[in-house]
Amino acid sequence: MADTTTDPTFAEVLRAAEVVAASLAPTPLQSHPLLDAATGSAVLVKHEHVLPTGSFKVRGGVHLAATLTEAEQQHGLVTCSTGNHAQSVAYGARLAGVRATIVMPSSAPAVKRDAVAALGAEVVVRGATLGESAAAARALAAETGGSFICPTDRRIVLGHATAYLELFRQAAEQGVTLAALYVPIGSGTGAAGACLVRDELSPATRVVGVQSEAAPAGWRSWRHGAIETAPSQTRASGLATTTGYPLTQRILQGRLDDFVLVSDDAIDDAARLLATRAHTLAEGAGAAALAGLLTPQGPGRPGRSADGPVAVVCTGANASADEIARLGATSSAA
Ligand SMILES: Cc1ncc(COP(=O)(O)O)c(C=O)c1O
Repeated sequence: MADTTTDPTFAEVLRAAEVVAASLAPTPLQSHPLLDAATGSAVLVKHEHVLPTGSFKVRGGVHLAATLTEAEQQHGLVTCSTGNHAQSVAYGARLAGVRATIVMPSSAPAVKRDAVAALGAEVVVRGATLGESAAAARALAAETGGSFICPTDRRIVLGHATAYLELFRQAAEQGVTLAALYVPIGSGTGAAGACLVRDELSPATRVVGVQSEAAPAGWRSWRHGAIETAPSQTRASGLATTTGYPLTQRILQGRLDDFVLVSDDAIDDAARLLATRAHTLAEGAGAAALAGLLTPQGPGRPGRSADGPVAVVCTGANASADEIARLGATSSAA
């Protein structure tokens, strides 16, 4: 039975990092002068999209693979996802040689469904939203005896936290103390990991969560200090959650310094900036952190500098055909 009651600790993040480093190379933390000029801030980009599967989520799957229970190994894994957690669990299951069944909503991009199948997992399309797919995945696990893996399983949070261990260590090696770190939030695993590591390694850095205003369940939950649901209409599939998640919300309460909402158009603008100023193809969720920096509520809006260098995490590059087409469109700010 997954442990959902105890918060992950920094010591566990350090151990997870050893596991993850055995399979995955560190990702770069880089500045891009044109991006600095466009944002009016000194911005370091953590390029998590260069990992296998094209997103930071693979860290969770790799850590999960090394920490499976006997039942999980025997009966296989069942989970639900719009795509990147799906690929991560499929990747981890393949590493561990166990079966994985992934329930995906019909709204998940075809490119992500194909990627999951290519990793050898069984794809079951059920439900229109992630919330509906989650219910279907739990039912399927109960029917088949497979183990349901919650997208916020603490082993997955620990795997994702390793991105931030790397980031803060790299910033220190570069002689940079970050004023702020912007992290996209769907289920909140990445931001929770960022907060856990920040508390130990860089207490002066503000961690700011960013979510689409078209899928604000996590934001509402954090604001109100209670698990809340909200419809998801965002184009950014990685942010298309419909509920707050208890474990990550508990970690974020009291630790996350701010949480901003951005429009999907602002996310597209940020994706265009990453493509044209930072040589980076980002899917919507992967561009959301930069959109958060540039939001009128944020310190990095053009013409106004942040209090110091900031970091944004490009969490994923699995752009859909529509997202790629929108890169060529005119900026919504134009
Ligand atoms: C590319 C990308 N970025 C950000 C997120 C949000 O991460 P989390 O659900 O851990 O908050 C996701 C979630 O799937 C994602 O795929």
